[in-house]
Amino acid sequence: MSKTILDLLKGADAFISGQDISTHFGISRAAVWKKILALRNKGYVIEAVPSKGYCLKSAPDLAQDYLLMQIKSDLWKDIIVYDSVESTNDLALSLATKREIAPGTVLVADQQTRGKGRLGRTWESPAGLNIYISLIIRPELEPKDTTMLTVLAAVAGALALQRSCSIPVSIKWPNDLVISNKKLGGILTEVRADPDLVALAVIGMGINVNMDYRGLPDIVRHIATSVRIETGINHSRNEIIIQLLKEFEQCYSILKKEGKKPLLDAWRKNSSTLGRKVNVIMHGVSWSGIAEDIDDNGMLILKMRSGRRKTISSGDIAFLS
Ligand code: BTN
Repeated sequence: MSKTILDLLKGADAFISGQDISTHFGISRAAVWKKILALRNKGYVIEAVPSKGYCLKSAPDLAQDYLLMQIKSDLWKDIIVYDSVESTNDLALSLATKREIAPGTVLVADQQTRGKGRLGRTWESPAGLNIYISLIIRPELEPKDTTMLTVLAAVAGALALQRSCSIPVSIKWPNDLVISNKKLGGILTEVRADPDLVALAVIGMGINVNMDYRGLPDIVRHIATSVRIETGINHSRNEIIIQLLKEFEQCYSILKKEGKKPLLDAWRKNSSTLGRKVNVIMHGVSWSGIAEDIDDNGMLILKMRSGRRKTISSGDIAFLS
């Protein structure tokens, strides 16, 4: 019911009277007031003026009701926001494997106590500041094409931040969202696959949104950033998530209808890696050269000084120029 009253308030241009709400839902004025108080307790700012009624002034920065209300989608069926979890990816994998949540579910947490990064690293996930999100889909892709999900998520993440926060985010291979070579987001895709089909994919994304410079852990302070640090103002996590889900859905539909090429092209267009001299460490071995392109599977093609080309499947890159 709270969600429906919220719908009504959100749809109204100005005040909407308590009587109108009560008639609309067939509940008493006292029940309307109780619902308004419940929404206020969740952080919604709702002005109440005698003889005028109620007016929604603002929504909390991260709110399940608000997200559900904004997402009208064929792909996304449910969004669950948690106060604190160990890792949204771990939770998503566990719940989806037990069929307690369906593909099309999105898990978001205000805080993670055991956030995971790539290559076994930790993803710092303090409360109240950033986005920690896992998208659960049944992608109907062959296992060899799994990397396309990370390519797709990187494009969607970059476009979402460019459009909702007006910042020049680009993609650093393989999956970092960066501004001026400082990382503000990362992607961790985990799948459960049969021999010829990806049965389940969990695409996890962490985005540093309102964390300030002092909030960044000492060891990453020189290589990390946040939307707030880049723009000087706080941003609504709701709006970034809404944009991210829209961009993801659009990219996913392109992948289904037109294949990989348009997405690989969008990755190239938004990449800060291609054309740069880089050093890559893959499985403990260091390779240097020009990051020439990515191939059809999202692997990096490195052109070395000898002219030989090396396909890099995983690792970290550092820019040399
Ligand atoms: C990276 O190392 O760049 C990937 C970071 C991915 C972090 C996100 S936060 C939401 C999801 N849950 C996790 O435990 N990790 C991913």
